[in-house]
Amino acid sequence: MTACGMNSAPVLSVRNVSLGFTDTTILAGVDLTLHPQEFVAIVGASGVGKSTLLRALAGLLSPQSGQVEIPTANTSDTRAWSMVFQAPRLFPWRKVRGNVELGLEGLSLSKAERRRRALEPLALVGLDELAERWPHTLSGGQQQRVGIARSLAVRPRVLFMDEPFSALDAITRRRLQQELIALRRRTEAAIVFVTHDIEEAVLLADRVMVLGNQETGQPARVVETLGVDLPLDERRDHPDFAPLVQRVEAIIGNY
Ligand SMILES: Nc1ncnc2c1ncn2[C@@H]1O[C@H](COP(=O)(O)OP(=O)(O)OP(=O)(O)O)[C@@H](O)[C@H]1O
Ligand SMILES: [Mg+2]
Repeated sequence: MTACGMNSAPVLSVRNVSLGFTDTTILAGVDLTLHPQEFVAIVGASGVGKSTLLRALAGLLSPQSGQVEIPTANTSDTRAWSMVFQAPRLFPWRKVRGNVELGLEGLSLSKAERRRRALEPLALVGLDELAERWPHTLSGGQQQRVGIARSLAVRPRVLFMDEPFSALDAITRRRLQQELIALRRRTEAAIVFVTHDIEEAVLLADRVMVLGNQETGQPARVVETLGVDLPLDERRDHPDFAPLVQRVEAIIGNY
C-alpha cells in the first residue's frame, strides 16, 4: 500500500451489504473500502459467496440491503472495472492482439490508439512478441496472460480476479503470481482477488478477507480481515509468512 493510494478517494465502498437471490440471503454484513493500488484477497469455502460478492462489487448484482458505491470510469477511454476469470475466454478467430483490443472497442479510441493500448499491457505480461499469434498456439499460462492483458487494456480502476490462476500448473502459477506482484507497482488499479489458495492470498494481498458461515442456515459473513504487513518481494521467505498462512487456514477451518 502506497501513501498515494491511502490519500486518494476510495474507488469502491460497500457498507453493511447483504447479497442473495430471491428470498435467500447468502452473504450479510459485508463492509469493504478499497483505495487505488490496494490489493484485497477474498478466501472462504466453496459456495460461501466469493464470486457473488465480486459480482456485487462490480455492480452486476444489486444488494438486498446496504450501501454500495461501485467504481465509475474516470474518462471515456477507460472502464470502471474489468474481470479476469479462471479460464481466459479468448476468441479463437481473433489473434492475441485482437483479443486484447476487444475490451477497447466500446471506448472512444481511434484504431491506432486501440492498437497501441493493446500492445502496452501485452508487454506488461511479457507477451508483446506473441501479439500476432492465434490463441490456440499459446500455452495455458500464456492464454491466461492474454486474459489479464485484455483486462488491463481498459485501464480499470478496479481489477476483479476470480481464481485467475487455479487452472494452471504449479510452476506457471508461481510465475504468474510473481508477475502480478510486479504488475501491482505498474498499475493504479485496485485489485480484488478471489482464491482457494490461502498461501496465494497471503503472498499477494495487503488484506485477506475471510468469508465463513458462523451458523448453519444463516448467511455467511466476513469472519475476519487480516492485514499482511510483509515486504511484497520476499514474502515467501519471510519468517512471518508461514505462521500467517497457518493462521488464516485455522480461521477458515473454524467455519
Ligand atoms: N444466480 C444464482 N441464483 C441462485 N443462487 C445462486 C446464484 N449464483 C450463486 N448462487 C448460490 O450462492 C452461493 C454462493 O455462490 P458463489 O458462486 O458466490 O460461491 P463461491 O464462494 O464463489 O464458490 P466457489 O469457491 O465454488 O467458486 C451458492 O450457494 C450458490 O449456489
Ligand atoms: Mg466462485
